[in-house]
Amino acid sequence: MPDRTTDLPKHDVTDLGLAAQGVKRIEWADRAMPVLRQIRERFAQERPFDGVRLAACMHVTTETANLMRALKAGGAEIALCASNPLSTQDDSAAALVQEYGVSVFARNAVDRDGYYAHINAALDSAPHYVFDDGCDLVNTLHGSRTDLVDGVKAGCEETTTGVIRLTQMANDGALRFPMVKVNDTDTKHMFDNRYGTGQSTLDAVFRATNTLLAGKTVVVAGYGFCGKGVSQRAAGLGALVVITEIDPTKALDACMQGFRVMPMAEAAAIGEVFITVTGNRDVLTREHFAVMRDGAILGNSGHFDIEIDIRALEEMAERKNAKVRHQTDEYVMPDGRRLMLLAEGRLVNLGAAEGHPPQVMDMSFADQALTAEWLIDNAAKLEPGVYDVPTEIDKDVARLKLASMGVSVDTLTPAQDDYLSSWEQGS
Ligand SMILES: NC(=O)c1ccc[n+]([C@@H]2O[C@H](COP(=O)([O-])OP(=O)(O)OC[C@H]3O[C@@H](n4cnc5c(N)ncnc54)[C@H](O)[C@@H]3O)[C@@H](O)[C@H]2O)c1
Repeated sequence: MPDRTTDLPKHDVTDLGLAAQGVKRIEWADRAMPVLRQIRERFAQERPFDGVRLAACMHVTTETANLMRALKAGGAEIALCASNPLSTQDDSAAALVQEYGVSVFARNAVDRDGYYAHINAALDSAPHYVFDDGCDLVNTLHGSRTDLVDGVKAGCEETTTGVIRLTQMANDGALRFPMVKVNDTDTKHMFDNRYGTGQSTLDAVFRATNTLLAGKTVVVAGYGFCGKGVSQRAAGLGALVVITEIDPTKALDACMQGFRVMPMAEAAAIGEVFITVTGNRDVLTREHFAVMRDGAILGNSGHFDIEIDIRALEEMAERKNAKVRHQTDEYVMPDGRRLMLLAEGRLVNLGAAEGHPPQVMDMSFADQALTAEWLIDNAAKLEPGVYDVPTEIDKDVARLKLASMGVSVDTLTPAQDDYLSSWEQGS
């Protein structure tokens, strides 16, 4: 533990005075993260990261704080910056610096320059390993900080958008070290993206607008893991759900789940709440704003603020009433219609709510922690490229989570095992 007055790790946070409140919230989250806690206790004994420098670009939340605690207990020296300008919880950032000895560069609501200054400050630690959420840190390393690339042995990526960007970098031969797709483990995307984004996105709509979803038409753009979570939870609250998609199979899946599917050009005129979660750009644009109903609520839960064309909204609106509620901006159109943009079009569940609940981040971050440990022994064997997390880690996390929930499952009998691994046995 650093000396609180003279020996704090390097940092740029909003207010260290928020540390005590941050500790309370981090410990509250920790109670709901039994798998990560177990890993932290083992790391404290085994110290797999002694002498290792890690730079992490992630949402600075209570759950991330618990991941940092686990890595720190394992001996890592950590520099953390935010992966989104609106997602930083200032009290968690302060607590990490003051109580847990983690170097943090993150302030809620920094501008673009501040955001990249913080990424650069984390990179100044000359990391051996990197943790990214959306690929901005890895991208910066390969752009303006190539002097540090040779020192990086490997890293992990947390989200779908980051995996897409890394895969493109690898295909272009641009990626210079191995990156592991933590997002793609079953114990991450099947739970975090679906149940985490599903619940926390609606939580954000409620906190930002206090609206009733029952009976409302909710348009969800993108029926991937996140979109399924959002639409199923909205339906559970009595909303009439409409899906827009570009993938025919996903669209078919949505139809058979009982949702209406149509192009956004049609959905725009009937929707009352719109959630974009595609990872793609220009999903809600000028032509859609032109036909939307008065009072329509617009939120984005995809990684970047590119899904809702905010520039068009700004241009079309006769007036913008900023912050009519916390994290709600009202755009008044020339014909008097008002469109409500949540969290400036950035990840709404982190901008207007607290992000995913700890119960689900327990699995995502257990995957991160165990993958980091695996990389210590295996990074040197990997060529630059994008890799899956070893299946054993994924299954271990599922087993540990089930055990923490008091749930046990059957095991294969030798005859069943033999049957599943043979091809000779027919009817
Ligand atoms: N809010 C969060 O906390 C959170 C959590 C996890 C992932 N994410 C992000 O959410 C986004 C989606 O993640 P996912 O795991 O669901 O990805 P996914 O690939 O499973 O799903 C995305 C879906 O969007 C569809 N799509 C693409 N372009 C479209 C368009 N123009 N119109 C309609 N549909 C379109 C795709 O066909 C696909 O089915 C990514 O940016 C990811 O990084 C956010």
